[in-house]
Amino acid sequence: MAFEEYKTALVTGASAGMGWAIAERLRAKGLTVHAVGRNSEKLKELEALCGVIPHTVDVADTAAITELVEGLQIDVLVNCAGVSRPGSILQSDAYDIDEQINVNLRAGLHLCRMLLPGMMERDSGHIVNITSMAGLYEFGGHIAYHATKAAMHTVSRQLRVDAFGRRVRVTEISPGRVETDIFARVEKISPEEAKAKYFEGMEMPQTSDVADAVEYALGTPQYVNIGMIELLPTLQVPGGLRTAKRVGDDVILTGNK
Ligand SMILES: NC(=O)c1ccc[n+]([C@@H]2O[C@H](COP(=O)([O-])OP(=O)(O)OC[C@H]3O[C@@H](n4cnc5c(N)ncnc54)[C@H](OP(=O)(O)O)[C@@H]3O)[C@@H](O)[C@H]2O)c1
Repeated sequence: MAFEEYKTALVTGASAGMGWAIAERLRAKGLTVHAVGRNSEKLKELEALCGVIPHTVDVADTAAITELVEGLQIDVLVNCAGVSRPGSILQSDAYDIDEQINVNLRAGLHLCRMLLPGMMERDSGHIVNITSMAGLYEFGGHIAYHATKAAMHTVSRQLRVDAFGRRVRVTEISPGRVETDIFARVEKISPEEAKAKYFEGMEMPQTSDVADAVEYALGTPQYVNIGMIELLPTLQVPGGLRTAKRVGDDVILTGNK
């Protein structure tokens, strides 16, 4: 059980959804958990629930995360904070693109830059990146989201190359739809409306299923690296093929059902 190797964790996006569940699970496994997010009330709630150490920090602020990790010895880094915006490149504005790059990609890269050297020096550590099926499949819209998640997929693989020879493990967890409030945030609708639209009557994975995957990857022996877990709802599949037919000025779009 590699858990005995790990004493401390830093989880971004711990104020909600998957990050909350992962932070809670790592506490239950006996780790000291630094929980990062912007919503200090939610972080305090999590602290009261399970004793995480809350840090109200915007991960897009590189100076703030630099200050946050200064002096910390972190054995497990979980890059989970994420934002998503609807729309193709045609509907994106400058803020949409910058925010997603800053939170979903830049923050993760900087945290790896800051924490990986200590893990390599100690010859022990684990980085878990929560990406998305959006990094591997195209399903239209959310272009910057797809791009940042694809980038973190590559980062996850590259990290293993960078850490080669040391007992530092890297796991990418690539979920499909999971029941969280992210859809309410994306569409700027109430959690109840989002629930009706995205979850009701569907059998969608829960945040505890993602925490199970993290626990599994961390708990394997240190000589095993679980590189990637694609965690999709059984009743959700990516894929399909569309072909457009041009007849004069008309465009007929076809696709499989
Ligand atoms: N739910 C899904 O269906 C799904 C599917 C595939 C992948 N994912 C990915 O899984 C991860 C977790 O998503 P979730 O569904 O649990 O989302 P969520 O419920 O919306 O939680 C997002 C978390 O990210 C944090 N966050 C966002 N911007 C931040 C910033 N600038 N600084 C610090 N923290 C920030 C939020 O905290 P504050 O608001 O407190 O800042 C919150 O804790 C994300 O990376 C997401 O892209 C989600």
